[in-house]
Amino acid sequence: MAAITASPTSQSSPASLPPSVFTLPHTAQLEALYTIIRDRTTSRGDFLFYSDRVIRLLVEEGLNHLPVVPKTVETPVGATYNGVGFEGKICGVSILRAGEAMEAGLREVCRSVRIGKILIQRDEETALPKLFYSKLPEDIAQRYVLLLDPMLATGGSAIKAVEVLKDHGVSEERIIFINLISAPEGLKSFCGKFPALRVITGWIDKGLNEKAYIIPGLGDFGERRYCE
Ligand code: URA
Repeated sequence: MAAITASPTSQSSPASLPPSVFTLPHTAQLEALYTIIRDRTTSRGDFLFYSDRVIRLLVEEGLNHLPVVPKTVETPVGATYNGVGFEGKICGVSILRAGEAMEAGLREVCRSVRIGKILIQRDEETALPKLFYSKLPEDIAQRYVLLLDPMLATGGSAIKAVEVLKDHGVSEERIIFINLISAPEGLKSFCGKFPALRVITGWIDKGLNEKAYIIPGLGDFGERRYCE
């Protein structure tokens, strides 16, 4: 059955950014959530709670980009409803360790979803991102993949992660990369390499500092999430 085009609510990117980049609608509520998680005085408990709220919005938006097919059901009053159903199987893949924080948000909306993991770290000899570990669903090539990593800074880890997915037979069109904050530098190099891959980002910040932290950003996501 022919798939129906997805209907995202996210805004497509401004002309200066690649067309495969989508941001959440910048409502006052979203801005308030980001103000809390960016604030250095926010407690760890509040950081967890409010970053989870943003993650939930991002995951829901990621699902809006998946294709659906026509589906007809009968309602309890015996009437026919011509609706739609999801077309294919999905899975999540988190880039460790920060991406793990987004897994619960995905599980909340996709019950018993399969989730793979990829660990990428800097190779001390080459200074390049290196794959240390991956565990992916064996049928991942037949699935849509929601790739999870909260911060897109230089794009090095995300690029490596997509290369791993492609090595496992996943096409770019089936990958949706979800993150809370992106730096324009990271977006440019990531999307330049994978033009057919969609990126859903909550916010695009100004840029990177000399230590490759996103500015204004929210600091080290893993530290804020896992350490007091
Ligand atoms: N990772 C983080 O946690 N924060 C940044 O600003 C950049 C990368």
